[in-house]
Amino acid sequence: MKTEILRASGNDLSGICLRVKEIWESGGLVAFPTETVYGLGADGLDSTASRRIYAAKNRPSDNPLILHIGDQKDLEPLVQRVTENAEKLMDAFWPGPLTMILPKSSAVPDETSGGLPTVAVRMPSHPVANALLKSVSVPIAAPSANLSGRPSPTKAAHVIEDMNGRIDAIVDGGDVGIGIESTIVDLSQEVPVLLRPGFITMDMLAGVLGEVQVDPAITREAIIGHRTITGAPKAPGMKYRHYAPKAPLTIVTGDPARVAERISSLADDRTAVLAPEEHAAMYTGGQVLTLGRLSEPESIAKALFDVLRKCDAIGARRIYAEDLTSADPGGAVMNRLLKAAGGSFVNVNEL
Ligand code: TXA
Ligand code: MG
Repeated sequence: MKTEILRASGNDLSGICLRVKEIWESGGLVAFPTETVYGLGADGLDSTASRRIYAAKNRPSDNPLILHIGDQKDLEPLVQRVTENAEKLMDAFWPGPLTMILPKSSAVPDETSGGLPTVAVRMPSHPVANALLKSVSVPIAAPSANLSGRPSPTKAAHVIEDMNGRIDAIVDGGDVGIGIESTIVDLSQEVPVLLRPGFITMDMLAGVLGEVQVDPAITREAIIGHRTITGAPKAPGMKYRHYAPKAPLTIVTGDPARVAERISSLADDRTAVLAPEEHAAMYTGGQVLTLGRLSEPESIAKALFDVLRKCDAIGARRIYAEDLTSADPGGAVMNRLLKAAGGSFVNVNEL
């Protein structure tokens, strides 16, 4: 299949919207930018189109898709009831990087919800995503537009790398703004549960909802494996190996100068080192890939997936990353980094 590249530059998106609408209405697949990461979209009410998404990504079919809508009123037909908590969250955070889970209506096919009785819905704020979603009359199912297991795409070039020849079109809207996927909150239970951390933090959710619990399987202790966890994560996608570069990755914590000294002494030219700009000059060995600035935590989230992809591109055989907890109050960046490391997290004295 030849993949069309549609460049969304300037304010006039009408031509692109028409073309994408045509593809979506005929059951095809189009990747598009959102404020979090690029999504791979298709008609979310068409079970055949949903199946095509799983095939293009090599994604396991029990891993449900998020439905994307262009207007708050489009939520109602997809769920059994728009609850009071859903209203509160919409008012506070939509359009934006928050996904809500609610019991689904019969309009949502099992292929889209991965066989679950619930559905995930989000209204993105990215102007290109918003224009595309407003131009069609159906919700668009869109997982991140990467091959299953690879880091989510934050640039059109990442989508091209993974999806060229596998989908109908890619809308190039430049680099995304946030760089990690949306926060997911499950509203189908009595007490809301955080299923995936993101730009909208626990504190922000609690400020609107009051009590919020965290799925125990997504905590840092669970990922590092220091605590015995019963049961799989409630968001099926959180159980899969994710974001992982080809080479083994270890996160090293401790005094930054000591960390830089120790990693430099172990590194050779096939070793990638993931460090914030402020610390890069302390390294005397390895290939340092800078990961944004500690003084601007948003720059770290934005750089993370690109840097993980670069580790493969430079042919790294070993990867070390600094512990970024101090620049990650909501825990969303470390959640991804810990998963990319398969839970490998050590103190510099143990390295
Ligand atoms: O920021 C984002 O959310 C991006 C952009 C494209 O919107 N999308 C995204 O989709 O990250 P994806 O498919 O890569 O991740 C969706 C996650 C998966 O972990 C999936 O298991 C979970 O949401 N999920 C979807 N529906 C669910 C449901 N009904 N119950 C529990 N988890 C669900
Ligand atoms: Mg994904």
